[in-house]
Amino acid sequence: MATDNMHIALMFNDIAPTYDKLNHVLSLNVDKIWRRKAVKRVKKAIADVENPVILDVACGTADSTVALANIGENVRVEGIDISDGMLKIGEEKVERLGLTSRISFSKSFAENIDFRDNTFDAAMVAFGVRNFADREQGLKEILRVLKPHGTLLVLELSEPQNVIVRWIYNLYFKNILPLIGKRLSGNAKAYRYLQQTVEKFPMPKEFMALLDACGYKELKHKALTCGLCRIYQAKKL
Ligand SMILES: C[S@@+](CC[C@H](N)C(=O)[O-])C[C@H]1O[C@@H](n2cnc3c(N)ncnc32)[C@H](O)[C@@H]1O
Repeated sequence: MATDNMHIALMFNDIAPTYDKLNHVLSLNVDKIWRRKAVKRVKKAIADVENPVILDVACGTADSTVALANIGENVRVEGIDISDGMLKIGEEKVERLGLTSRISFSKSFAENIDFRDNTFDAAMVAFGVRNFADREQGLKEILRVLKPHGTLLVLELSEPQNVIVRWIYNLYFKNILPLIGKRLSGNAKAYRYLQQTVEKFPMPKEFMALLDACGYKELKHKALTCGLCRIYQAKKL
């Protein structure tokens, strides 16, 4: 594992036990709505596939994985992540929900996905692409394992463009969020990292250019909740 990825995995191992609770508290449960919107698009994209297989990259504690599996009884989902701690919580969740026959997990990083070419009908990365140590390599690997006509859905946090919303966002993200993060997880650094990675993440035009350069086609983008989150959709042709 590259050093950058190792640091990221260790950080997520550390916050794994409190990740779900903090996610919902810090986003006031809006993260659930964002995931639902992304999954709805995946559902539409695979509507004509008989027994779809979906890859959930950076699946974390499996909130995204479970949402994908809930698309239908005929859907199978493979979740990959680099953090043992996050995967363990995800596995327990899936077991509790009785979904083990349709969801599998493996430790793998996006930059070197342990599946054959043309395996998946769709892939989703929910709040994960921001963390990839090598974003371009990760996106290229996802393209490799997608089947022709397969769809990629990326859900990612972003800095809002509107001046007023941005001011409130900065106040919350830079000052309040690390404090709550520290209090509930004991790891203020992780929540500062969250803010810094969102700040560094490219704006839509730049990210769409990266998707294009990686070989994706039919690129689409939609801002959610005043641009606090964005959905990117692309296809392998
Ligand atoms: C913010 S969590 C998102 C989890 C989940 N998708 C969700 O919707 O809540 C980000 C996850 O990305 C994983 N991750 C970071 N870099 C990765 C990489 N290069 N390959 C695979 N997973 C990665 C982390 O371990 C962490 O579990």
